[in-house]
Amino acid sequence: MPDTGRFGCRGLPAVTENPHQSAPATAAPWSPPPCAAVPDASVVRPAPPPHQAPPRSAYLHIPFCHRRCFYCDFPVVPLGDRADGASGPGAASIAAYLELLHRDIARSPAGPPLSTVYLGGGTPSMLTPHQVGGLLAALARRFGLAPAAEISLEMDPASFDRPRLAGYLAAGVNRVSLGGQSFDDAVLASLGRRHRRADLLEAAGWLERARRAGELRSWSLDLIQGVPLAGGAAPGGEPAAASFPPRQEVLRHWQSDLTQAIAVGPPHLSLYDLIVEPGTVFERLQRQGALPLPDDDTSADLMELSQSRLAAAGYGHYEVSNYALPGHASRHNRGYWSGAGWWGFGLGATAAPWGERQARPRTRQAYADWLAASEAAEGPPGSWAAAVLGAGASQPASSGMPFD
Ligand SMILES: C[S@@+](CC[C@H](N)C(=O)[O-])C[C@H]1O[C@@H](n2cnc3c(N)ncnc32)[C@H](O)[C@@H]1O
Ligand code: SF4
Repeated sequence: MPDTGRFGCRGLPAVTENPHQSAPATAAPWSPPPCAAVPDASVVRPAPPPHQAPPRSAYLHIPFCHRRCFYCDFPVVPLGDRADGASGPGAASIAAYLELLHRDIARSPAGPPLSTVYLGGGTPSMLTPHQVGGLLAALARRFGLAPAAEISLEMDPASFDRPRLAGYLAAGVNRVSLGGQSFDDAVLASLGRRHRRADLLEAAGWLERARRAGELRSWSLDLIQGVPLAGGAAPGGEPAAASFPPRQEVLRHWQSDLTQAIAVGPPHLSLYDLIVEPGTVFERLQRQGALPLPDDDTSADLMELSQSRLAAAGYGHYEVSNYALPGHASRHNRGYWSGAGWWGFGLGATAAPWGERQARPRTRQAYADWLAASEAAEGPPGSWAAAVLGAGASQPASSGMPFD
């Protein structure tokens, strides 16, 4: 399988749209330090180098999912199929986490207004619009939001309906990233996904209609290539043993996914090569010889097929995994590739406010402990900034945003 550079280090995917997940493998003049050098739970922040401009982007990690997909090793907390931020199962967990996230934002040094915000996960669409609006208001208070800021939210097709989408748009979200993965129900089942093709088509329809109505600026669709095609889910919920079909069938299947993706009209597409991550169900199946994957030649053919099919449909290939119609490249992602710093908040989030990556702890308790220790070490929210930057260097948060 060709190395697309999707992951910079294990668990810190490198070339998705999401800043916590996205970093160029190499991007002169900036390059990330090796994973071993990431100060995982340090409460001491490095002083910003004088030449480094303060971040204009922020990533917020929302770790909740209904279930953990069989391929995914992101820092997520599965809460069950009925969980939601509004009420019922999981609501208390979500509320407790949001309290930590608000504290994390509040203790940040201030900075200039943000031009991009990315709520990634996990499944941020398990939050209510009110909860999303509250987080945007916290960012607006701390930093301000530039008037034309790009505000992205990751959504899972099985986790929202039309009124909820309208609520997110009213709260300030103007770009959505939809985790489609495949248009084939058997594949979706074998990936451990909760949604099916009908859910994906319905969700994509809502998004595209909102875009055409001028209510949503842009949206993106994630697909995974090189997935197991046969088998489906066994009664226990895990994929049955499958043998990988011949190359022509793999290509035909991917061609069909691409055609259906183009037909639903996303102005942006993220196409990820399946990575079998340690500790996942897929890794166990692979060890058992029950997860045959395409060979390197077939994977290269899939990539070529994507490039030619999407170029013919007008999409530019602007990054390793990302394609966009003119004017729809993700500004957030591009900022990341430019080497600019970014704020990162939440469990497992990676931040690089001054160019050096800092990863927050990946479990809820460790994150809560780290936050408490940071607050104790630094005094009142934001006060370390005055000490580190000097009183005049910390810029005041601007206000006047619609979320206040
Ligand atoms: C945080 S998820 C997107 C939002 C939501 N959680 C969902 O899955 O619908 C980010 C994307 O990463 C991709 N991804 C995650 N793990 C992967 C893996 N092991 N191999 C390839 N793609 C992966 C999927 O395409 C997924 O949509
Ligand atoms: S829903 Fe998204 S973040 Fe959650 S486990 Fe699946 S791919 Fe990972």
